[in-house]
Amino acid sequence: MLNYSKIGVIGAGNVGAAIVNALVLRNIGKEIVLFNRDKNKAVAEAMDIDDTIPLLSEMKIKATNKYEDISDCNVIAITVGARQKEGETRLELLGRNTKITKEIITKLDKFAPNAVLIMVSNPVDILTRVAQETSSRDKKKIFGSGTVLDTSRLRYQVGKELNVNRKNVHIHVVGEHGDSEFAVWSNAIIGSIKLKNFPLPKNLELKEMKEKTMQIVKKRAYEIIQRKGYTNFGVAIAVAKLIQCVIRDEKKIFSVSVGANEEYNLEKGTVLSLPCVIGSLGIEHRLRLSLNKKEKVQLLTASKSLDEAYKKIKP
Ligand code: LAC
Repeated sequence: MLNYSKIGVIGAGNVGAAIVNALVLRNIGKEIVLFNRDKNKAVAEAMDIDDTIPLLSEMKIKATNKYEDISDCNVIAITVGARQKEGETRLELLGRNTKITKEIITKLDKFAPNAVLIMVSNPVDILTRVAQETSSRDKKKIFGSGTVLDTSRLRYQVGKELNVNRKNVHIHVVGEHGDSEFAVWSNAIIGSIKLKNFPLPKNLELKEMKEKTMQIVKKRAYEIIQRKGYTNFGVAIAVAKLIQCVIRDEKKIFSVSVGANEEYNLEKGTVLSLPCVIGSLGIEHRLRLSLNKKEKVQLLTASKSLDEAYKKIKP
């Protein structure tokens, strides 16, 4: 565990500000630097969150528009970019957010070459690939928030359906943080019982439960965006937990955006959301999922969709 942890958040928009707030609420880190091109916005968010500190914890927050100020951050979350409009898919954001991502990563290579970088901007899996290909740091130190939030959304829904605490629902949503994501049902465990052997509540069909819960997960962001124009609190907590995992070297398993390796027989360079052990090094270890036939097809479909989108912006 780092004795003094300094966290950087690039972008003081709805997501960036919510991440800083989540870090303060959960007392993660000692110092937070909130970077925004428009410094005034960063100052306003930092002041507002600063007001919570006397009631909560000892934490320093610095607002800046100077990259020098993030030079000794241990971990940096990148949230800058256009956000989905109503009905817009995450992949449709790619063109607008690729250029911004490259600019930021180039600056971070200069001012914070040793930090672990967590991509948050969407489409997060592809922008993680752009970041990895732009940066000269070890790829282990660059990952994306991936399907951490989707996995949490699914665990919550399955817990509700099975009437068990979501903390006892062990299952990962993988592939794309987006429309081609899927749940690895074949590996799902409830407590210590395989889902397929778990006693279901009366009148609940397993197939129907799987379809219903994944449909809710897939629609969730669209429904929130339709109502408030963006999502921020869910992803902010997901990113805060990833940051905590890095600075406390917790070695927890999350489905993050990471380079998929040859064992899935995917195109070289593909970045997907897959379960990994996260710690102070960033990606400590990529887990190998044992997928059934249907899941292998779903992973291939997700990787093809991401690769096609990536090829459209390939430098
Ligand atoms: C969502 C955004 C983070 O799923 O893509 O809420």
